[in-house]
Amino acid sequence: MSSEYVPGLEGIIAARTEISMVDGANGRLVYRGYVIADLAEEMSFEEVAHLLWYGRLPTRAELDALTLELAGSRTLTEAAFSTLKAMPSDTDPMDVLRSVVAVQGVEHRLQKPTIPLAIHATASFPTILAGFHRLQQGLEPVKPRADLGHAANYLYQLNGKESPPELVRALNTYLVLLADHGMNASTFTARVIASTDSDLASCLVGAIGALKGPAHGGAPSAVMDQLEQIGTAANAEKWMRAARQRKERFMGFGHRIYRTYDPRAKILKAMCQRLNPKFYELASKVEETALAILHEEHPERPQATNVEFYSAGVLQAIGLPKEFFPPTFAVARAAGWTAHVLEQVANNRLIRPQSEYVGPEPRKPIPLAERG
Ligand SMILES: CC(C)(COP(=O)(O)OP(=O)(O)OC[C@H]1O[C@@H](n2cnc3c(N)ncnc32)[C@H](O)[C@@H]1OP(=O)(O)O)[C@@H](O)C(=O)NCCC(=O)NCCS
Repeated sequence: MSSEYVPGLEGIIAARTEISMVDGANGRLVYRGYVIADLAEEMSFEEVAHLLWYGRLPTRAELDALTLELAGSRTLTEAAFSTLKAMPSDTDPMDVLRSVVAVQGVEHRLQKPTIPLAIHATASFPTILAGFHRLQQGLEPVKPRADLGHAANYLYQLNGKESPPELVRALNTYLVLLADHGMNASTFTARVIASTDSDLASCLVGAIGALKGPAHGGAPSAVMDQLEQIGTAANAEKWMRAARQRKERFMGFGHRIYRTYDPRAKILKAMCQRLNPKFYELASKVEETALAILHEEHPERPQATNVEFYSAGVLQAIGLPKEFFPPTFAVARAAGWTAHVLEQVANNRLIRPQSEYVGPEPRKPIPLAERG
């Protein structure tokens, strides 16, 4: 048994999984044996969710059944809807999602995680987010449409009208690309909670909390903030060198596992160029500059563009406000989180690592009167 402390658990294998593989050295992401590039443009989110949950791509009949089940699960409980309505309109949508998922989960709190519960939870995320987006604008939430797929329905509930097929396709590809990613921080969080025999909603609430941080899923809104501050391609190098002087990180760059180009970023970059040329013009200059500066600082430690950088441009083109970028990541990752929870409970052992105590040696407490 290894007893060496590794900061950030870097390189530690914390689970055995059949769900996805992140091959950082070769820039490969694989879902249950399928390379992400082969799934991204061809498959619907529903097909990929089926793959993650059941371990195989669905037949036509299985896909129809799953689509129907997702469509029938998009409603919120009365308590969840009341919570949604009670949220102040300036609440961070990630906080809204975390809170409403918690309330929605009360209904199933005593049940062991199952595929129907995973479907139910995954189906509810777009309804929560789109409902909040409407309420923020003083509009009534829009009821889900059973005849629309996951991506198309999310956009329909957000905007109250159907979106052009090109944008639906783009959102679908984004959801497929982000659906799972090995033992990332939020998935690990979900598995830790699942390992205590807790309920699915608790796993998801924990995962949403982990995803929210800018080192993980909070990055795409931060990418937008940085690009807004940089403003023009001509200002990129000056701004970015000053940012590094202040020890700030470039958002959308670097990764714990990938030492080469993130395969998802490659696909999103091409989509961004097509869908959002204005964003792309500035972003590609910023990317070039960021990679040059990061290489200059540490040529021995390759850093590359990560999934979040061009996600920002794609999600903007789809019409999402930047506060909705991180929770839309959660809409995708709900499939992966729930698949991992199911895998954990199917072969569970409580996740309980150790810590290395580096505090003072055991000593006697000094009575209060003598402590001054
Ligand atoms: C993702 C991230 C948290 C990975 O962190 P990590 O595993 O600690 O990264 P590494 O071990 O490869 O490298 C750490 C070093 O590289 C530097 N580095 C890593 N990413 C950097 C970035 N985006 N900008 C500037 N420097 C960066 C750090 O400053 C650090 O150097 P230091 O120890 O001298 O301070 C980090 O790259 C980051 O904060 N990126 C920006 C946020 C982001 O895009 N997150 C989304 C991830 S999908």
